[in-house]
Amino acid sequence: MERFSFVFLVAGLGFFALAFVVSAWVPMLEFGELSVESIEELAADPPQSFLDLKDQYPVAYKKAFGDQDDSAAFADALRTGRKIYIGEGCWHCHSQQVRPVGSDEERFGRLSYPEEYNNEMNYPPIWGTRRIGPDLIREADKHSNDWHVAHFWHPPDVAPTSVMPSYRWFFERDDPDTEVDESLTPNRKGLSIIAYVQWLGSWQDNRRETIHAAGSIDRAFDPPVEHKEEPPKKDDNEPKKDDDGFGDGGDDPFGDDGKTDEPDPFE
Ligand code: HEC
Repeated sequence: MERFSFVFLVAGLGFFALAFVVSAWVPMLEFGELSVESIEELAADPPQSFLDLKDQYPVAYKKAFGDQDDSAAFADALRTGRKIYIGEGCWHCHSQQVRPVGSDEERFGRLSYPEEYNNEMNYPPIWGTRRIGPDLIREADKHSNDWHVAHFWHPPDVAPTSVMPSYRWFFERDDPDTEVDESLTPNRKGLSIIAYVQWLGSWQDNRRETIHAAGSIDRAFDPPVEHKEEPPKKDDNEPKKDDDGFGDGGDDPFGDDGKTDEPDPFE
């Protein structure tokens, strides 16, 4: 018996060592030299969606980011946005990884690849495990800033069946003394989280082309198309179809609609 436990001990330690070599040491040798992009580098050229926030909410923007230049403000927003994403537990419901399973690629676009996580914003990556809401790693520009503002304020306003909670604390009034709704704007938290979700995937430039799926994700890129079904046209000259189930060649007392051909005395 003692010999067996010794064998197990050695095997256990051996496999532990093997696992360390395979999953830590070899990758370190292979990728250790790769340089990690810093947030400042990522933010050097802020996307249009962020510049738009500055125009849309000048007062709130100034209050949130002060007089920093655009790229410094964007770096600040990204850092804050990531913290909020983690702190608010967005990752409980959202993943940030297009996986090689099911229809992921169709729904969200190009499969995730290692390089896109090799930056300070993804150390560690927030891949998430659950998907109560959609994956967000290709989120940039799917919706406008306005959409995000409305969505964080009260998700069902723009996605009627949504179970995502409201984030009212992402907002405050420009003028605290008024109750007017127009003075309600995203605050530092709100601006940062919008900058953050609008950044996710912005490095992948053909997102639109790689997303094919119908439904909510499609709605994201194009204005909603209303599928109006034409009511079936009734041509009185055509012989009536024998769809009454009697199989008697159409010579039945009921028309197609199940009513008799007799004029209705009550009409
Ligand atoms: C309880 C689960 C839940 C939590 C927590 C949650 N969400 Fe969502 N989210 C959803 C669901 C469900 C949807 C899809 C319906 C909709 O658009 O509201 C969604 C949609 C979204 C969308 C739009 C996705 C698209 O492409 O249409 C964004 C952006 C988003 N969430 C961001 C966030 C952020 C940021 C947080 C944290 C502050 C968060 N969510 C927290 C469930 C959640």
